[in-house]
Amino acid sequence: MRIRTHIRFLLNDETVETGDVRPDETLLDFLRLRRSLRGTKEGCAEGDCGACTVLVGRLAGDRLVYEAVNACIRFVGSLDGCHVVTVEHLRGVDGGLHPVQQAMVDWHGSQCGFCTPGFVMSLYGLWMNRPRPTVHEVEKALQGNLCRCTGYEPIVKAALAISDYGGLEADFLMRERAQVTARLAALRDGARVEVGSGKGRFVVPASVDDLASIVAAEPGARIVAGSTDVGLWVTKHMRDIAPVVFIGGLDELRRIAVRPDRIDIAAGASYTEAFEVLSRHVPALGMLIDRIGGEQVRNMGTIGGNIANGSPIGDTPPALIALGATLTLRKGDARRTIALEDFFIDYGKQDRAAGEFVETISVPLPAQTAHFAAYKVTKRRDEDITATLGAFNLIIAGGVVKSACIAYGGMAATPKRARAVEAALVGKAWNATTVEAALPAYEADFKPLSDMRASAEYRMLVAKNLLRRFLLETGGTQKPFTVGRARAA
Ligand SMILES: Cc1cc2nc3c(=O)[nH]c(=O)nc-3n(C[C@H](O)[C@H](O)[C@H](O)COP(=O)(O)OP(=O)(O)OC[C@H]3O[C@@H](n4cnc5c(N)ncnc54)[C@H](O)[C@@H]3O)c2cc1C
Ligand code: FES
Ligand code: FES
Repeated sequence: MRIRTHIRFLLNDETVETGDVRPDETLLDFLRLRRSLRGTKEGCAEGDCGACTVLVGRLAGDRLVYEAVNACIRFVGSLDGCHVVTVEHLRGVDGGLHPVQQAMVDWHGSQCGFCTPGFVMSLYGLWMNRPRPTVHEVEKALQGNLCRCTGYEPIVKAALAISDYGGLEADFLMRERAQVTARLAALRDGARVEVGSGKGRFVVPASVDDLASIVAAEPGARIVAGSTDVGLWVTKHMRDIAPVVFIGGLDELRRIAVRPDRIDIAAGASYTEAFEVLSRHVPALGMLIDRIGGEQVRNMGTIGGNIANGSPIGDTPPALIALGATLTLRKGDARRTIALEDFFIDYGKQDRAAGEFVETISVPLPAQTAHFAAYKVTKRRDEDITATLGAFNLIIAGGVVKSACIAYGGMAATPKRARAVEAALVGKAWNATTVEAALPAYEADFKPLSDMRASAEYRMLVAKNLLRRFLLETGGTQKPFTVGRARAA
């Protein structure tokens, strides 16, 4: 195996080659402190505000894809083979302002200006793929950008007008596409990258097989995929994460395969990649992914990371458990497949042996006769962490519940099935009488906690109301409900 001891990436026009990088060094610090590229701002340092947004281009197969990411929680070591584009690089055809920048000026999209470079980069990322976006597409692209003084309306108007200031064909990155693709392809040498030593060490595997052997040999190494969780351990909790194994650059670990009966999602597929496929085949899952973080987080974060971190309030586990998903875990050449619900043993404890990693998540396609829904309840609609999430997968035939798989997040120490509730529904008529009679079973299934997101009482009431909502949405016979103080969102 050939080993390279430095990373290589493109930063705007320049090729960067360096072995002088710490495993926990963020791209934001690298840009601002080492390169004096201070257009990229630090607002929150936790992926929420978008002031640090840059574009990262990578080769997906032979295709060059640019995505908006949060530089504050992206590690430099994960950029091997990528093209980082910062706001300083933007330019118009005549060397003046780029159409995105000119639109922001003319539509008064900036006041104090602190958030503006981040908005410009997010809008540039959108415009590249959707030169004439809808308002909904603009709002979605800006979910991860906060502005405290301008207000969003002028920014949305600017976003809708960008193409009036220039066409994509004149855009500098579009014109340089072939050249950048060739430069990135030349950086791909099939080598494993190993930088630093001891506590300062990180590795970028050459392949998934290489990853398997690295992690088996060094079980204490920290796997980092999108770093949307691990990034915060560094910036907010000052945790030591080394040695690190960066897996985000492995194409094989981002594949999504649609089979006749299921979808196999490789653990390193980002939310954005998974959304494309899931929204076509399991629309309710697509809608749920749309509510995870903002665009930058969805471009970086992975379903594998969401599962592996074991959080009781991760959004995908309850939905995937309700669908009967399985996990394939790999250690060296050995693989085992388990039901996803069995992976979550207790708070902070998962069924993952030392040296194992999550390789694939297999999601059965819901039966033709199944009704599936996932409801996320938060204080804000966009970019907020779940208080309670309920996912329902029921087969109803002839008005009778034939099978039920119901799982919740935010209701226990792990994502958890509502088995007592399921038992109270199966074999009964799918109507309000059955649902009302099943509600006391929630007390047997869950003892939720109170925390800053919601009280235990709120969570319990919302959990019950979500079952009522599911009944209403699936056309079960209705009678007026007694709805408590909390309202399902
Ligand atoms: C601003 C913001 C908003 C967010 N909003 C949401 C939200 O709405 N809903 C939600 O559920 N989450 C949210 N998150 C959390 C986070 O985005 C998700 O948990 C994400 O799925 C983590 O994936 P990742 O690839 O970034 O994981 P990483 O941060 O890279 O890793 C997370 C954990 O998983 C481990 N890991 C990663 N991949 C593997 C693997 N293949 N095998 C074994 N271990 C692995 C890592 O070692 C680490 O312990 C948000 C985060 C931020 C910063
Ligand atoms: S600084 Fe706020 S998202 Fe990065
Ligand atoms: S212009 Fe001031 S925060 Fe957006």
